[in-house]
Amino acid sequence: MSSKKIWQGNSTFILAAAGSAVGLGNIWKFPYMVGSNGGSAFVIIYLICILAIGFPVMVSEILIGKYARKSPINSLKNLSQEFKLNLNWKFLGILGALAGVTILSYYSVFAGMAFSYIFKIFPQGLENPSQYSSEHFFNLSSSPLSLVFWHTIFLFLTSLIIGLGVVKGIGRSVNILMPFLFFFIILVSIYSSYIGDLKRTLIFLFSPDFSVITPQIVISAMGQAFFSLSIGMGAIMAYGAYMPEKQMIGKTVMTIISLDTFVALAAGIAIFPIVFSNPSLEIAAGPGLIFETLPVAFYSLPLGSIFSVIFFILISIAALSSSISLLEPLTAWIEEKGKFNRFSIVFTLGILVWILGLGSIFSFNIWSDLKLFGLTFLELLDYLTNNIMLPLGGFFVSVLIGWKIPKAFIQENLKLNKKLFKLFYFSLKFLAPSSIILIFLYSAF
Ligand code: PHE
Repeated sequence: MSSKKIWQGNSTFILAAAGSAVGLGNIWKFPYMVGSNGGSAFVIIYLICILAIGFPVMVSEILIGKYARKSPINSLKNLSQEFKLNLNWKFLGILGALAGVTILSYYSVFAGMAFSYIFKIFPQGLENPSQYSSEHFFNLSSSPLSLVFWHTIFLFLTSLIIGLGVVKGIGRSVNILMPFLFFFIILVSIYSSYIGDLKRTLIFLFSPDFSVITPQIVISAMGQAFFSLSIGMGAIMAYGAYMPEKQMIGKTVMTIISLDTFVALAAGIAIFPIVFSNPSLEIAAGPGLIFETLPVAFYSLPLGSIFSVIFFILISIAALSSSISLLEPLTAWIEEKGKFNRFSIVFTLGILVWILGLGSIFSFNIWSDLKLFGLTFLELLDYLTNNIMLPLGGFFVSVLIGWKIPKAFIQENLKLNKKLFKLFYFSLKFLAPSSIILIFLYSAF
């Protein structure tokens, strides 16, 4: 592997991986899922899944990518060859790459919406800003044309950055953008706790009421953990291939997970106090939650419209640094075949993703009555990818590394201290795969 495709310094890998992890999943999805799934119980199960399943799976993905230094599909193939395993393990990479493309198709629709809010300035002197905000969201989501417009722009930007390459495109942008995002989310959550109902928020988020738990909540919390950490589909594995040789995997994963969890909770603290202190806003508003609440929060603030613009710029950036990692695994794999250049690959894939995205756009409007198993096209893709494909990917990754690859090899590559390794190995071999299966069974019956 040429040095061209290794990220400079330890921080670039951390920022790129955190850039992939921190995205709409944290700022848009986490708050609305907590809001619609009863609050604290969801949060607690989510946190358990992050530690018990997310940690070992993320470590394993990076281990595979860093060791083989190829796209996920070829890394899995190489690893299987080396350890004389069944070559079908590469299908795990293919499943992941497909999940990535599918997720990107709807991810880009919501990211496009966030992008459009950068340009939406609420008029002065509104009597009822919450109502205005809900109406604006309703108008935006009922217009296929507007959604297609923003979806196109977002996908174009995503393809452009991936096309520019790993070091120049992805590496450079995350180095500039991520620190800015962390700073701003902290600022908004402080502001929001100050003007809104912080006490109710903290009770809602952290005082567990296990009586509300249903199988549906458990599987959604697990799906959300996978989605938020970008694991189970090869994004982090693809990035692992560009990790500097000397960087320690265990410590790095700890940092990424902490940043991701921190931003999700901070987003909750940025949004809920405002919802609780505003009777016309609905905590279980679903996917529209941040779009309807944040502009209202900013409205009453001096310089509020500037804050709002900055915030939506940051959400768009967070989404962009995640969306590039959704398409990188497939792009890298096709690029390795050596027949096409990166730009033509990524723009062709972009067009396919764009077409698939139309289905999600129409789910808001002209296809809103079209349902399969009671779910719209968009909800179906969301369910299928987050709750089934990603956990399944994570399950197989943990089986591969936990059961098929010699322990000594993993130990040598991870360089964890003895106690930590024991803990990690136990969760990888037993805890993670069995929890995934149990949650699947629990939600199926
Ligand atoms: N983790 C990203 C988010 O939270 C979404 C994502 C999922 C990105 C899977 C890559 C892979 O928004």
